[in-house]
Amino acid sequence: MNEKKEVGEKAVEYVKDGMVVGLGTGSTVFYTIMKLGQLVQQGLTIKGVPTSEQTEQLAIELGIPLGSFEEVEQIDVAIDGADEVDPELNLIKGGGGALLREKIIAAAAKTFIVVADSDKNVDTLGTFPLPIEVVPFGYEMTVKHIKELGGSLKLRQKDGKTYLTDNGNYIIDSSFQEIMHPRELEKNLNLIPGVVDNGLFVGMADRVITFKDKKLTTIVRSNV
Ligand code: 5RP
Repeated sequence: MNEKKEVGEKAVEYVKDGMVVGLGTGSTVFYTIMKLGQLVQQGLTIKGVPTSEQTEQLAIELGIPLGSFEEVEQIDVAIDGADEVDPELNLIKGGGGALLREKIIAAAAKTFIVVADSDKNVDTLGTFPLPIEVVPFGYEMTVKHIKELGGSLKLRQKDGKTYLTDNGNYIIDSSFQEIMHPRELEKNLNLIPGVVDNGLFVGMADRVITFKDKKLTTIVRSNV
């Protein structure tokens, strides 16, 4: 069974005609976007707002009409993957490097839905390296400040070069092991000059579509 496909396709049930839809990035939400492409071919009218250039390209190929924040005030539903999900539906995101646009779009959405295969479910966040987006200027100093919060750090590389996000920034992959207080860490990291944002998404996900005990399950945040 392909859990990514099942959870990804399930999420389209939350998309209705006329909606503005935040389109996430990664190999799970890929299936959501593929399915939306099919539905658009069959007459569904939506406007997508992509979280990355990679997703924008895919949506264009599938004929999904796109919009930007110049035209849309609010997103009806945003759908995206995650690298880790804890029992309170807090997340680590940014494995694919798109965390900043993903967070802007999730924060603009009335409903934020996460699609995650069972491997992503953890008791405590932190085994997956937490991505932190930093501006290139003075990043050596920014790294020193991040180190003071604990954890080992690595500047992300791709094809032998320093990885650049769609926003022209660097990603520091940081290992904090067990993140006992995600809300505090999210805020404290973002107070460091040079940090643009980090991959902790605390209290943002409204629903997580995942597999528990081999069953497709939708977990709803308790105050939703
Ligand atoms: C990209 C992300 C992805 O949503 C996250 O890395 C999960 O990806 P995948 O669905 O491929 O496992 O945050 O920045």
